[in-house]
Amino acid sequence: MAILTICNHKGGTGKTTSSVHLAAAFGLMGHRVLVLDLDPQGFLTRTIGLDEPPREASSLALIHPEGDLRQTEAVRLPHFDVLGASMQMTREQRRLTRPTDVFWLRETLLQGHDYDLILIDTAAAVSVFTMNALVASDAVVIPVTPEYQPVVGAEQTWQTAGLVRSKWNPGLQAPRFLLTQVDGRLSRHTRYADYMRERYEQHVLETPIRTSSSLAAASRDGKTVFDARYMSRGALDYAHAAEEVATVFFPELARPAPVNGAPWQEEDGVPTPEAASPAPSASPAPSAGGAPEPAPAPSAPASAGPTPAAPSEAPEPTASAATPAWRSPAASEPLGAPSEPEPPTARAVFHHAPVPGHTPAPPPDVMAEARRTAEEAGEHARESLRQLGASGDGGAPSGPKVRRFRF
Ligand SMILES: Nc1ncnc2c1ncn2[C@@H]1O[C@H](COP(=O)(O)OP(=O)(O)OP(=O)(O)O)[C@@H](O)[C@H]1O
Ligand SMILES: [Mg+2]
Repeated sequence: MAILTICNHKGGTGKTTSSVHLAAAFGLMGHRVLVLDLDPQGFLTRTIGLDEPPREASSLALIHPEGDLRQTEAVRLPHFDVLGASMQMTREQRRLTRPTDVFWLRETLLQGHDYDLILIDTAAAVSVFTMNALVASDAVVIPVTPEYQPVVGAEQTWQTAGLVRSKWNPGLQAPRFLLTQVDGRLSRHTRYADYMRERYEQHVLETPIRTSSSLAAASRDGKTVFDARYMSRGALDYAHAAEEVATVFFPELARPAPVNGAPWQEEDGVPTPEAASPAPSASPAPSAGGAPEPAPAPSAPASAGPTPAAPSEAPEPTASAATPAWRSPAASEPLGAPSEPEPPTARAVFHHAPVPGHTPAPPPDVMAEARRTAEEAGEHARESLRQLGASGDGGAPSGPKVRRFRF
């Protein structure tokens, strides 16, 4: 079972489009996929043509001390299931202010479910829902259009993921950036893409998602491009991106990309690679006729400067999966001897269950810390871009060398 969050603190970077199409691609690979719409504005829910669900059949039902995915009825679509956004999320957000409130999704999903992959779309904000998603996840994809604001948002999101990993979710893998809406005819796109690749090296996925009118049209029609135009640029790019995401984060889910729109075939319940679509390569998809060029290949790794600090690839497990990290010692410190009683889950705290021998430390203000981290990261990113000649009014980096900074 894998949990993947799609997140960028800036808006319009392709989060929802990526959530829907990565989910559809994984579904076409033969996996059981659930999409959670955790954006209170519910764009994903509307994009795929669903009505607003009642609260108990929405993603909000999982952000609750009594949440149980097995009791929550998702909408079944051809390639994946969905729990849509409830309009009550905005109101609920104001009430979810306790430190334990970032752990409900994680603990709900740990109760058990039948999905191979749960994919979470988030809003362009550092909200309690975004934090629930990151705390519950194994991995994060940060969609980033190679433009000033999305790049600043991407760097903020990278830092937020680092904070979550170090404080509350030691199992979170280092994020991967997914370049989206890339128009190779625009020199500033090339320069921002180069900037990201030089600064973050292998943490930028090789597959770029190019601009594709099919993607824009599909979202207007409530479909995926795999149904509407499976040979379009958008379908090819997301098929390859899904394959790369699986290879990088979830090798157990890696299968050839569904580039011809045909679902993975099974014989007697056993997946047969021969029956699957061809094109097992995770390299960038070829240009369609008349299409803009894809983003350039990754730059050679820069020789100087430290790589940005990231959640490590294979972090040492420091707490049991069900342990809320704020109840644990710092993620880098080992937990006490195995004979010590397990620290309580957020659920246990909520229900005031006594835990013998455990004196909980006062919890930190999780959301304040997350917002402060994102703010500081935004300032760093803007300063770093300014030094390279980039600005919010259209200038792209032109400096000779990308300077790295430590988090
Ligand atoms: N590769 C693409 N080519 C063309 N249009 C795209 C592409 N990706 C996304 N779009 C369009 O760009 C717009 C923004 O995309 P999307 O809604 O996925 O972004 P978002 O990050 O989820 O935005 P928000 O922060 O508002 O939730 C949508 O109209 C979508 O159809
Ligand atoms: Mg969105």
